[in-house]
Amino acid sequence: MAKALAEAGMDAVFSYAGRTANPVAQPLPLRIGGFGGVGGLLSYLRKEEISHVVDATHPFAAQMSRNVVRACAEGEVPLCAYERPPWSPAAGDNWIHVGDTEAAVQALPQDPARVFLAIGKQNLAGFAARPQHHYLLRLVDEPKAALPLPDCSVEIARGPFDEAGDLALLKRHGITHLVSKNAGGRGASAKLAAARALNLPIIMIDRPKVLPRKIYGDVAEVMAWLSHTPA
Ligand SMILES: NC(=O)c1ccc[n+]([C@@H]2O[C@H](COP(=O)([O-])OP(=O)(O)OC[C@H]3O[C@@H](n4cnc5c(N)ncnc54)[C@H](OP(=O)(O)O)[C@@H]3O)[C@@H](O)[C@H]2O)c1
Repeated sequence: MAKALAEAGMDAVFSYAGRTANPVAQPLPLRIGGFGGVGGLLSYLRKEEISHVVDATHPFAAQMSRNVVRACAEGEVPLCAYERPPWSPAAGDNWIHVGDTEAAVQALPQDPARVFLAIGKQNLAGFAARPQHHYLLRLVDEPKAALPLPDCSVEIARGPFDEAGDLALLKRHGITHLVSKNAGGRGASAKLAAARALNLPIIMIDRPKVLPRKIYGDVAEVMAWLSHTPA
């Protein structure tokens, strides 16, 4: 999305929350950090005279997406979301669908298991309720504070990942269960193929709900919307 905007010479700004230490560079002017809720975002939109907003956040960044819907409605700024479709199970997959992280904890077995907890760093604490399991975490940055899980190992890596690498990872750690958010897209899907190859159960967390808004799954569609939607 950023590349397409830059190539089209659009006057655009890219916003990162500031969660990772060294975010990927983008071919657009960058701002980093929260806006300060709906009110802060609305002030930003007005101050910077933003004419259009593209919500290209991760499908699990629901708070930001909700704030954007409200701020754009209040500021009467046209909004669309650029969102990849969710993954769906393929033949041979063994998915257990759950609604949220708490339900994913409950879906784990009682007997000790070796779990690849592929959900990032923000929602780990709930899994401390099942301390009998060994957890494998894959994080972008080295954790700064102690992790809330008594028995875990950490891989520091940044996607995109490939199937051969993820298969080797699952085998190396003797993984028996995968917990994943239904992020969609190609960059993080290799773990699903690797789990399928090993016939492992996948506890798949469904996407959180966001208020209805215009959604495009394709960069070209967003670019067309930007060109055809009056400010
Ligand atoms: N959640 C995931 O699984 C996940 C995975 C990969 C990448 N990410 C990315 O990491 C960022 C944070 O995710 P999250 O789940 O913590 O978000 P979140 O819970 O939806 O948002 C929490 C707060 O972080 C700030 N924020 C989030 N995205 C922002 C952005 N692009 N620019 C400026 N501020 C932002 C906002 O703060 P204020 O209220 O102060 O404005 C927001 O209220 C998102 O941009 C998302 O795309 C998330």
